[in-house]
Amino acid sequence: MAIASGNGVETVRIAHELVTQEKLRPVSAAVRGVAVVEADPNDMSVGYGGLPDEDGKVSLDSACMDGPTHNAGSVGAIQDIMHPAQVAERVMDATDHVNLVGDGARRFAIEQGFRPENLLTERAEEIWKRWIAGRNDDDRLWPLNDTNPADPVLQGEPRPWGTIHCSVLAPNGDLGCCTTTSGLAFKIPGRIGDSPLIGCGLYCDNEVGSAGATGRGEAAILSGGSWLIVEKMREGMHPREACLAALRRVVEQTERAARWQPALWKDGRPSFGLTFYAVRKDGEFGSATMSGNRRFAVATAEGGARLESCAALYS
Ligand code: GLY
Repeated sequence: MAIASGNGVETVRIAHELVTQEKLRPVSAAVRGVAVVEADPNDMSVGYGGLPDEDGKVSLDSACMDGPTHNAGSVGAIQDIMHPAQVAERVMDATDHVNLVGDGARRFAIEQGFRPENLLTERAEEIWKRWIAGRNDDDRLWPLNDTNPADPVLQGEPRPWGTIHCSVLAPNGDLGCCTTTSGLAFKIPGRIGDSPLIGCGLYCDNEVGSAGATGRGEAAILSGGSWLIVEKMREGMHPREACLAALRRVVEQTERAARWQPALWKDGRPSFGLTFYAVRKDGEFGSATMSGNRRFAVATAEGGARLESCAALYS
């Protein structure tokens, strides 16, 4: 089976087909599955068409992890390469390193045969220009106006932490996963989020399960969210309960952090979005989000590719 964030119905369909029919290893099925979203100019939180950083440069984060070898690869703040997840897979397979960032990651990608290209679409550039025109001094400290439809700067356009995560379980019980993103829109150049960080935006242990995150990367980093979910599943929790347990941990941590950053806390709960996804080695799966109605994508042999509702910590 394959599970992904809500923007990944086609991703899980492809990943499921690759792992069942073409017998691809799960990590490669996940990487190939997310490629369709990386190349989609209409998803402004991933790859081509993603919203740029403060300087107007599209800068991508991605990582993948292979259960059977417990190996991983990642690229952070890479520019001009449409499929950073595939570069992360090359880091994993062709080097002894786990993380490559910035210009080093870009040079490695080109050495590996990836073609540099402009990833900034006209629409993303237009939104960035509106943001530049209306930015204020607080913006670096409180970048939390991600979905406010009344936002005067973005005029209803999202300031997403978006992202796509995909975890795949093969018929033989092997696991693999991948997370890829353009990260927080208008971030400080050089900022990386949780997506390229093993244990934060993704993690898998071939004996237990696989997990990943979308949403406010800083919260997934500070909680070690994906690692925590896998450890909760190791203790016997259902994947959905493990995702909820990780969100509760984020709430505890955010309540403390809000003493210094009040904008993180609103109406007695975290003011930001965060969603976790998990699959256990026995095929049980689930997802939970901080609040509201969100959906995740899943593909199984019985049910095909579809959207299901995430559990919500706060309704
Ligand atoms: N979760 C994506 C990011 O914060 O960059």
